[in-house]
Amino acid sequence: MPDEKSNICLSASGLTKVFGSGRTKTVAVDHVDISLCEGEVVSIVGESGSGKTTLAKMLLGLLSPTEGEVYFQGKPRDISSHKKRKEYWKNIQAIFQDPFSSYNIFHKIDSVLLDCINMRGGRHLPYEEKVEMMTEACSFVNLKFDELTNKYPFELSGGQMQRLMIARIFLLDPKILVADEPTSMIDACSRATILDMLMQLRDDIGMTVIFITHDIGLAYYVSDNVYIMEQGVFVESGSADDVILHPKEPYTQRLISDVPKIYEEWDLSTV
Ligand SMILES: Nc1ncnc2c1ncn2[C@@H]1O[C@H](COP(=O)(O)OP(=O)(O)OP(=O)(O)O)[C@@H](O)[C@H]1O
Ligand SMILES: [Mg+2]
Repeated sequence: MPDEKSNICLSASGLTKVFGSGRTKTVAVDHVDISLCEGEVVSIVGESGSGKTTLAKMLLGLLSPTEGEVYFQGKPRDISSHKKRKEYWKNIQAIFQDPFSSYNIFHKIDSVLLDCINMRGGRHLPYEEKVEMMTEACSFVNLKFDELTNKYPFELSGGQMQRLMIARIFLLDPKILVADEPTSMIDACSRATILDMLMQLRDDIGMTVIFITHDIGLAYYVSDNVYIMEQGVFVESGSADDVILHPKEPYTQRLISDVPKIYEEWDLSTV
């Protein structure tokens, strides 16, 4: 586990998002504090509507907080101009619930991947070198670049699409990856493959990963630390073992009891 103080790469304090006003007012995220060390996998777990995606979007700089501050590498994050925001996005990237939302459906797959190389400053590389990079990224996720190059994203299966998203991340090479329910659209077998690939990004490349899920069993499988979110607030947090094997809050206990099989596999019967 990384040293808590020396290598915090992303943190937030008092992060709050209020949508609407008056009778339509929703406090989606309510004074949340979070911190992530380099190379760590942190899960945010909670029921639908608990505020996970809203929090992720604020960390990503896609939604502006109503209150609170985000710190990147120890300094207040500055995304006040287009240039600064683009610079920030070299460091933090996302995979979303719906992979279609990440692609321009009129762009073929090779141009989706070429965009990533260009974003990382590779615009002027010789084309053969770019092909090599795209081939490597595809083989990282067990896809064959040659077979994909002339296809459109909608011609792929759900699992292939999710893998292509990870190939994009491989090329973009951010310090931090936010994976928001990345396995929600695929079957159990592809889900295991995707989770293994996410772990490989951490283990082989040292990426820091924020994994968002309503499935506390998956969170146990992948994370160092876990934050449990209920109605915009973190009700419990700590190491995956502490929080999931010894939950203190009734809400956490309920999330665990929704996944009966983890009782059997990890012998939680004494909890
Ligand atoms: N753009 C928006 N305008 C108004 N309300 C919103 C908006 N986005 C989210 N909300 C509300 O904020 C709350 C939190 O939503 P959010 O999408 O963050 O939940 P979530 O935990 O990601 O849920 P899920 O697991 O279903 O993806 C919900 O009550 C939602 O209706
Ligand atoms: Mg969500």
